Amino acid sequence: MLILAIESSCDETSAAVVEMSDKRRQILSNIVASQISIHRRYGGVVPEIASRAHTEVISRITYEALTEAGLCVGGSDNSDNSDKVNSYNSALDAIDAVAVTNAPGLIGALLVGVGFAKALAFSHSKPLVAVNHIRGHIAASYLAYPDLEPPFLAFVASGGHTSIIDVRTYTDMAEIGHTRDDAVGEAFDKTARAIGLPYPGGAEMDRLAALGNASNIKLPSPAIAGEGLEFSFSGLKTAVVNYVNTARMKNETICREDVAASLTAVICHAVVEKLALALKSTNRKKLVFAGGVAANTHLRAAIAALCRDMGVSFYVPPVSLCGDNAAMIGAQAYYEYIAGNCADTSLNAYASV
Ligand code: KG4
Ligand code: ZN
Repeated sequence: MLILAIESSCDETSAAVVEMSDKRRQILSNIVASQISIHRRYGGVVPEIASRAHTEVISRITYEALTEAGLCVGGSDNSDNSDKVNSYNSALDAIDAVAVTNAPGLIGALLVGVGFAKALAFSHSKPLVAVNHIRGHIAASYLAYPDLEPPFLAFVASGGHTSIIDVRTYTDMAEIGHTRDDAVGEAFDKTARAIGLPYPGGAEMDRLAALGNASNIKLPSPAIAGEGLEFSFSGLKTAVVNYVNTARMKNETICREDVAASLTAVICHAVVEKLALALKSTNRKKLVFAGGVAANTHLRAAIAALCRDMGVSFYVPPVSLCGDNAAMIGAQAYYEYIAGNCADTSLNAYASV
C-alpha cells in the first residue's frame, strides 16, 4: 500500500511516501523542511510564523516527496505549471491513501497539514487517515526495525512530549507515565538558552555534556519520588536558571560543559529509574525509545544499558527518524487504516489529546 503522509505539527513541514504491507515497511521518500532558522531569532517556535511557513512550503515539499518516490512523471520543478499539475495528479492517482498528523501540536500548524491533506484526499477520491503525532514517533521504530511488533513499552521524548506508553497492539496503547509540566526536550532547550546557546539547544547540550563534569553542579532529580511513573522538568529548568543567574551575579564564569553534563546526568538517572519501574510493572520484554530527544547519545546509552541489565531488547530509530518527519506518520497510518480508522471530510485538528 502506497501512503502519502503529511506532518506539520510544529516547526517542520514534512511529506513522505511509504510503502507498507504485512511484510514490507519501506520509505520511498521523506522530505523535511525545517523552520529552525526562522524561529531561532525568537529563541523558540512562534506559532503564527510556523503556520505561515507551513503554508508557503507544503505544496512544494509534497511535490518533492512524490518526485523522489518516482511517482511524478514528466514534470519537473522547472516545468511550466500545467505540466506540473498533470504530473502531480498522476502521482496522486498512484497513491492508495493520504495520511496526516491531526493532534497534538500547534493548532494553526496542524490545521495547515489537515486542510491540505483533506483537499488532496477528497479531490482524488483517496482514503484519508488521521494520525496522532506521538503514535507516529513510535511508528518510526517499525521503519527502522522491519520485524518489530507490539506488544512493547515505548518511551517518547520530544520538545513537546514525555510519555511512557504501553503499546499493546499497533493501535491499542495506554499512557502509563508522563511529565506533569515541561517536556524533556523543553528542559534541554530552555537550559541551553539560559547558558547562551541558540534554539533548539538539545543537540548542542548533547555534545557539550560529553566534555563536562557531571558532579560539579548539584541539580534536583526530575523523577517524582515514589513508585509512580511521573516526571517534572520545570523545577530542573529553574534550578539551572538560578545557578546561572547566581554565578553571573558573583561574576563567576559558567562552565557550559559542566551544566550540560550535570543536567544530562540527572535526566538519564531519572529516565532509567522510571523506565525500570515501568518495565517491571508491565513485564514487557521490548523497549522502544522515540521522539526528537531519542537522538541524545547519553540517553540512548543509559537506556541501552538498562535494557541489557534487565534482559530487554532495545529499539531506537536512527537519528534521521527521531525528529519530526512524515514517514513515521505514514507508517502508523498503515496500521490505523487496516484497523478501519479512516477520517472523513469533517476531520479536525486538536492541540492536545
Ligand atoms: O520530536 P521533535 O522533532 O519535535 C517535537 O515533537 O517536539 O523533538 C524536538 C526536540 C527539541 O527539544 C530538540 O532540542 C530535541 O528534540 N533534541 C535533542 C537532541 N536532538 C534533538 N535533545 C537532546 N539531545 C539531542 N541530541
Ligand atoms: Zn515530534
